[in-house]
Amino acid sequence: MDIVPLGPGFAAELRGVTLAEVAADDAVYAAVRAAFEEHSVLVFRGQEVTNESQLAFSRRFGPPEVTKVGSLGTGTHFITLTTIGPDGKVVPPDHRYAQRNRANQLWHTDSSFKDVPALTSILSARIVPAHGGETEFVSTRLAFERLDPALRAKLEKSFAWHDYDHSRSKIAPGLASPEERAAFPPVCWRMVWKNPANGRSALYLASHAYAIEGMDGEAGKKLIDELTEAATAPGTSYVHAWKNGDVVMWDNRATMHRGRPWPADEARLMVRTTISATAADGLESMRPPSQQAAE
Ligand SMILES: [Fe+2]
Repeated sequence: MDIVPLGPGFAAELRGVTLAEVAADDAVYAAVRAAFEEHSVLVFRGQEVTNESQLAFSRRFGPPEVTKVGSLGTGTHFITLTTIGPDGKVVPPDHRYAQRNRANQLWHTDSSFKDVPALTSILSARIVPAHGGETEFVSTRLAFERLDPALRAKLEKSFAWHDYDHSRSKIAPGLASPEERAAFPPVCWRMVWKNPANGRSALYLASHAYAIEGMDGEAGKKLIDELTEAATAPGTSYVHAWKNGDVVMWDNRATMHRGRPWPADEARLMVRTTISATAADGLESMRPPSQQAAE
């Protein structure tokens, strides 16, 4: 297996390895896992991907999420991100599918609004538009390391509230349905996630974050916006231009990402699997002290 850095300072392509080999072989998995801890975003090209092979690969990293209410694929381990409607045609721009794609174009971390957040997301390209539709990543580990030491020390002891409805309402009022709002009440996480494998800390932020515990509402929101802006400053991102057969996985503890737009009349179909974080991934230290004590 060759590791080819993509940059800037994170993200790498793994060559000479297939999803099936990772699923079948402990040593191959261990090598890929080590690369994941180090590089935060891993790219595999030219893969033959089925839902089954993607899930077998994904399961190596931990327990797969069951797709939430309101997403295409509810109750399975797959989320289908598409602009193709049930009639086989590309949906109009005001369709819910298209609005959801716009919500994905805000900088975010997958599943920070859930009661168990995600370690990693694995995304495979099934139908790629001719123009645009890239996925853009930043390292919140490098972003954290760029902050001044006093702010880093403060953030390590700070907790932010995350709410799915908050990010969706930025796109359209009511985009999060009553069922989704009921299923996902706001949750609170430490603002810095320390990776137990290497001790490196990363900002834990997302478009879902709306308040900081113990801070006035406006001041908290302002700090979240400033940190997001600093983390996504020009020149800090890796932009993945998709080809059929690409699979990209990322560490939700140490990155943010956003989808890039593409022409509304071009089809795009992607399939995501998502792996929940566990205690071994540093989950318990992310909970507010009140919740740690209660367990
Ligand atoms: Fe996402």
